[in-house]
Amino acid sequence: MKKQRDFIFKCTGCGHEEPKWLGRCPECGEWNTLVETAGNFAGSTRRSGRQNSLPPQSFPLSTVDPQEGTRIGSGIGELDRVLGGGIMKRSAILVGGEPGIGKSTLLLQAAAAVETKGRVLYVSGEESAGQVRMRADRLELRGERIEICCTGQLEKIETIMEAVKPLIVMVDSAQTLHTDQAGMAPGTVNQMKYCSWELISWVKEHDAALFLTAHVTKEGVISGPKTLEHLVDTVLYFEQNEGDSRFLRAAKNRFGSVDEIGIFTMGERGLQPVVDPSLLFLIHREGGLPPGTVIAAVLEGSRPLLVEIQALAVPAKGSMSRVFSDRIDSARVSRVAATLEKHLNLRLSDHDLYINVAGGIRIAEVGVELALAMALYSARTGLSLPTGTAVAGELSLAGELRPIRRLAGRLKAAQSLGFEGFLGPAPALPARLPGLAIEPEGETTGLRAVGDLKSAVKALFT
Ligand code: TYD
Ligand code: MG
Repeated sequence: MKKQRDFIFKCTGCGHEEPKWLGRCPECGEWNTLVETAGNFAGSTRRSGRQNSLPPQSFPLSTVDPQEGTRIGSGIGELDRVLGGGIMKRSAILVGGEPGIGKSTLLLQAAAAVETKGRVLYVSGEESAGQVRMRADRLELRGERIEICCTGQLEKIETIMEAVKPLIVMVDSAQTLHTDQAGMAPGTVNQMKYCSWELISWVKEHDAALFLTAHVTKEGVISGPKTLEHLVDTVLYFEQNEGDSRFLRAAKNRFGSVDEIGIFTMGERGLQPVVDPSLLFLIHREGGLPPGTVIAAVLEGSRPLLVEIQALAVPAKGSMSRVFSDRIDSARVSRVAATLEKHLNLRLSDHDLYINVAGGIRIAEVGVELALAMALYSARTGLSLPTGTAVAGELSLAGELRPIRRLAGRLKAAQSLGFEGFLGPAPALPARLPGLAIEPEGETTGLRAVGDLKSAVKALFT
């Protein structure tokens, strides 16, 4: 058990507190600024006012009610997906992102849509009530259940929470939180941490849930919000890809997977969920695909997505060939190119290779490898792929195709977008796809199952 201390070491520069003396403040980096001060360490002890007078107890795990935290639908499908199926009661969710990405908009839309009979308290430390009202009007939200208060002062927020008893508290933003408590210098990271922790404790004790927004700068300097990550249950980052779409990703989730992403576009009336993301990433062309272009069925999280992979091979400018690929890892591109060179006798090592993914999405999933190989082959030979065919599969260094996750899902996604052809790894396709009406030989459905690079080329290019 941690010993109760009655003194701490406090930085005279930023107010950061440490339980023991350090030569350099870990928060602001200043040297010799930690001085011994009376008080308790805020990082490990709670304010006495809320401390329970009952002796601490343990209980058998088997007696714990697993339903302790129940989920509340946020009313926004894409948000629920990223949260792992809704807002968990007694949880704290941090929404980070660059200014202007849409954090406040997301919170306000969720505040209005959340499927709860309870109240939602929207705390804005950045905007006036009038500004929030203007945004609500723009979003055509009535907001009958939303209580608003415009302050960043912890004590005021706590008083209002006690009066309103909200089910969901939204605080925009964590950086505006401050308190007079403990004489900390206002505006420091420590104040933000302290106030956030108080709010988190409140929602945990009152069966509510907390959303906190945090600004993250472009350089990714998130020393502030980063320090909140371990306090909260879920960390979502909102980011804009190079196109117009905005991705909401879970960086941490105690109650769900961190694989899921939510996709939105920002429209005239706020954030619009993108239900079929493939439509964002596919280019619609009259006529056939240009050489070097392949439609890949990849996964984003557990979500199948069809994207266009583009490859260009030009004779190397220098003595060394280079790979220019920022959306698919260059090491993966080099490996696939080497595999092609070795097993198909296709010379790529004297060429500079350029790889692009339409729509600016980054792909880090192995299932893209076969499509990448086919794009390189097509680019180097000048042969086009047939239209209406999607490709998925992992490639081994020996030139074999390996089964991939969620093949049936990828196939379904391709078919729903009108793709009639599908090329995938033989061990899994089609024999292991029960429930899908696929004829074993694959010919009539345009479905081809191949075992290696050679047969993939044969299936697509002859
Ligand atoms: P905002 O939610 O304020 O971003 P953040 O809180 O992350 O700083 O708004 C982001 C941007 O979106 C802002 O530039 C205005 C724009 N916007 C729209 O395009 N349409 C809308 O309906 C709304 C509400 C905002
Ligand atoms: Mg904002």
